[in-house]
Amino acid sequence: MVTPLSNPPPQGGRERGCASGETMTFRATVLTIFPDMFPGALGMSLAGKALAAGVWSLETIDIRDFGIGIHRQVDDTPAGGGPGMVMKADVLARAIDSAGADDRPRLLMSPRGRPLTQQRVIELAGGPGALILCGRFEGVDERVIEARGLEEVSIGDYVLSGGEIAALVVLDACIRLLPGVMGKAVSAQEESFAQGLLEYPHYTRPQVFEGRAIPEILTSGDHAKVAAWRRSEAERLTRERRPDLKTPEPDPASRENRSRKRPSDG
Ligand SMILES: C[S@@+](CC[C@H](N)C(=O)[O-])C[C@H]1O[C@@H](n2cnc3c(N)ncnc32)[C@H](O)[C@@H]1O
Repeated sequence: MVTPLSNPPPQGGRERGCASGETMTFRATVLTIFPDMFPGALGMSLAGKALAAGVWSLETIDIRDFGIGIHRQVDDTPAGGGPGMVMKADVLARAIDSAGADDRPRLLMSPRGRPLTQQRVIELAGGPGALILCGRFEGVDERVIEARGLEEVSIGDYVLSGGEIAALVVLDACIRLLPGVMGKAVSAQEESFAQGLLEYPHYTRPQVFEGRAIPEILTSGDHAKVAAWRRSEAERLTRERRPDLKTPEPDPASRENRSRKRPSDG
C-alpha cells in the first residue's frame, strides 16, 4: 500500500527557480517493511511543520504488499549459503516500479555505500526529491541494485539493523536545507563541511559559567576580529579533529586581518 503521509502541497509550496515558474515540492518516497517508522522524528519540529505546509511530501510504500504468498514473503536464503536472509530482487523491483518513473535519484541505504556528505545532501536538497529503499536482514539481492540503478548511500562506518533510521537521517539533512524550513535563512555554503571546515565554537550568556568566561574577542563588538577568530578556530578544530577533510586555503580576509594584527591586539 502506498501511504501519503502529507497533504498534497498547497499552491505556493516550494518554489523552484525554473523558467516556467512551476511550483515544486521535494518528494520523498520511502520503501520499507516498517512504514510506521515514518515520518517518525520528521513529523516534529521544523521538518514536521514543513511537511504539513507542503514544503516537502512523504509517501511510504510497504514492501510487504509486493511479497509472495500468504505470508507476503520479501526475503529468502542467501545463494551460496551462510547466515541470514536476503531481500528478494523480484519483490523489491515490483515495489520500486509501483512508485512510477520520474527523475528522482533512487537511493539504497547500505553500509557499503558511498558515505553521505554535506555536498551530496546539498545536491539532493536542490533536486526533485528521492526514492529511498530501506534494506533489512543481510541486505538486498545485488541484481535489483543494478537493474533499478540504485545509488548505495551509507551514513557511517557502523551497521544498523535496518535502513529506516538511515533514511530518516538522509531526509532530515535534506529537509533543513529546503527554502523556508529554517527560521532564519542559512547559507548552506557556510555550514560545517560545506567549506571543508568544522564549525567554530559557540557561546552564549551567562558571561561566566563555572569560572569559564566567553572569549573576550566575541564581546569586543569588532566584527572583523570576531570573523577572523571564528575562521582560525574552525581551521584549528578541523586540523585537530578531522585532518581528513579537504580544508581550503585560509580565508584571505582572515589572513589579512592576522597580518594587520598589532602586538598589542588581543
Ligand atoms: C543488518 S544491515 C545489513 C548489513 C550487511 N549484511 C553488511 O554487512 O554490510 C541491514 C540494513 O540496514 C541498513 N544499514 C545498516 N547500516 C547502515 C549504514 N551504515 N548506512 C546506511 N544503511 C545501513 C541497510 O539498508 C542494510 O541493508
